[in-house]
Parts: sequence; C-alpha cells; structure tokens
Amino acid sequence: ERSDGAAAFEALLAADERVEPRDAMPDGYRRTLVRQIAQHAHSEIIGMQPEANWISRAPSLRRKAILMAKVQDEAGHGLYLYAAAETLGVDRADLLDQLHSGRQKYSSIFNYPTLTWADVGAIGWLVDGAAITNQVPLCRCSYGPYARAMVRICKEESFHQRQGFDLLLALTRGTDRQRAMAQDAVDRWWYPSLAMFGPPDAESTHGAQSAAWGIKRFSNDELRQRFVDMTVPQAEVLGVRIPDPDLRWNAERGHHDFTQPDYAELLRVIKGAGPCNAQRMAHRRRAHEEGAWVREAASAYAEKHADKHR
Ligand code: 3HC
Repeated sequence: ERSDGAAAFEALLAADERVEPRDAMPDGYRRTLVRQIAQHAHSEIIGMQPEANWISRAPSLRRKAILMAKVQDEAGHGLYLYAAAETLGVDRADLLDQLHSGRQKYSSIFNYPTLTWADVGAIGWLVDGAAITNQVPLCRCSYGPYARAMVRICKEESFHQRQGFDLLLALTRGTDRQRAMAQDAVDRWWYPSLAMFGPPDAESTHGAQSAAWGIKRFSNDELRQRFVDMTVPQAEVLGVRIPDPDLRWNAERGHHDFTQPDYAELLRVIKGAGPCNAQRMAHRRRAHEEGAWVREAASAYAEKHADKHR
C-alpha cells in the first residue's frame, strides 16, 4: 500500500508539476539529483581551467574582457548549482570532498587541452553549444530548484556560445594561418563535444529512470542528434569543415547521419585517463587548499556577527 508521500510524488509527476525541496520524494530521486546537480556544478568549476589558460594571452583587450566575463559566469553557474544541490540536504563542502577524492565526476570535455587561441572559440561554439542543447530541456526538469537554476544559466550560455562563434568567424575571415588554426581546433573539439552527451542510450545507466522521473526530457542520443543538426549549418557559415566524412543529411530521417564519438575513449577519460585529468584535479585541489583561509575568515565573520541577525 503506497504511502501518501509516494502517491503525492506520483501525482506531481503525472501533472508535470515541480517537485519542491519540502515535498516527499523517493530516496532514489533525491540521490540521482544530488549526483547529477553536483557533477554539473563540478563541471562548471573545473570548466574554468581550460579557458582561463588563455585570459593572459588573449589577442586583444576586447577578447580578454569577453573571456574573463565568461569564466566568471562559469564560476557563478557552479555556485547556483551547488546551492540547488544543497536544497536536497547535502553540503557543498562534502560535495567538493567527493570531487577531490574521485567519488564524484565532472564532464569529460574539460580533460582536453586548449592548445591555441582558436580553442577558446571552439569551446564557446561547440562545448557551450552542446551545453545549451543539454540544458534547455533541464529548464523543464521535474525538480524545481534545478529547473530554475537552468533558466538563468541558459541565458548566460547563449552569450558564451555566440562569443565562441564570433571568435571563430574572425579567424576564418582572417589569414590562411588563422583559418587553419580554427580548423585545427574544430578537428580536435568535435568528437569530444559529441561525447559530452554521455554514452549511447543502450549503455546509459540512469537514462530510463531519469526520464521516468522527469529529470531527463530527452535521451543522450536524442540530444546528441539535435546538437549535430543545429551545428552543421553553423559550420557552413563559419567555413569550417566538420571532421566526419560520413556526415550527410538523411531526408528520410529528417536528421544528419554522422559518425559516433569513440565511447571507449569517453570511458577512459571518465575514469581519469584523459589528456588533462591529473592536471585539472591537481589545480582544483590546490585552489581549494589556497582558498581555505577565505572560507575560515567568512565563517569566523558570520560567527561573530551571527547574533546581529538573530
Ligand atoms: N562526462 C563525465 N561523466 C559522464 C559523461 C561525461 N560527458 N556522460 C556520462 N557520464 C557518466 C554519468 O555521470 C554516469 O556516471 P555516474 O553514475 O557515476 O554519475 C555514467 O557516465 C553513465 O551515464 P548516464 O547517461 O547513465 O548518466 P546521466 O543520466 O547522468 O547522463 C549527462 C549524463 C547527460 C551528462 C547528465 O548527467 C546531464 O544532463 N547532466 C547535466 C548537464 C551536465 O552535467 N553538463 C556538464 C557539461 S559542462 C557544462 O554544461 C558547462 C558549460 O558551461 C560548458
């Protein structure tokens, strides 16, 4: 006999309404949301590293200002998402411990190096483009705090994607060397961006349950396909070639046929064997240690002035 809480939860899902922190929810629902929101937040924080690598070497003050604004946005996205995770009764200090000890993940995409300035454009255009494709449906996720965090984040992501496209357009309209630099970046970022959407649906451990709980509105493969269909026309405007000889429009399907990313590589990168995993985690741990005094000072201050707010 189902408890009132379970019936109420089912009714919320059936009515496509939002589940809020105080509503009864199955433990599995809470656990998978903590897992996904925390890993999403970790991705935002780690994601600052590849691009930050180019802030001091941006080719103009304008590009430097744009890149700084984007990296700061990613930090803010991380904070919104840790705050959303905390509505589920977890503490961000513990989530960071789980990241630092490898018990929680961050997106595979940030384990690739940013070798040239064109990579900053390819990340904005492809990685933030993939992020938008994945995050727009999350604005309708069944869990209220996550969906609302996504609305704000998606607005800022479109600026991220536009500035990346604009940066690559400047290069493809530049010298032959600049055009070659843009093409080289697209060649290196295309397949890892496709892999960002996760394993194929048949190997997705959480996909079906997350769909049943209204967390995932579309499957990994559906979003990957949507990303390819959206990106091909943009590549034509940019004048860059997508590195996939089998990419072609399939009128029957109404979608592009394309070569799948290397999922064995995705698994290796997720397990820590990507080009930059060790560097990203070492940098993250060092930043956490170096920031300890700020956290201690903030809590000492809060302690000292707590009575004022009582
Ligand atoms: N990188 C790392 N791990 C990945 C992954 C990837 N690209 N894709 C899948 N995985 C992991 C999953 O976390 C899961 O492992 P876990 O059980 O330990 O968590 C396992 O591989 C199986 O994958 P599933 O498909 O079963 O997992 P999900 O149902 O969670 O789907 C997902 C994966 C599509 C990434 C989903 O978690 C999701 O939509 N997350 C929210 C979006 C997100 O995290 N985006 C990160 C990109 S960074 C970003 O958007 C910042 C922007 O500014 C660029």
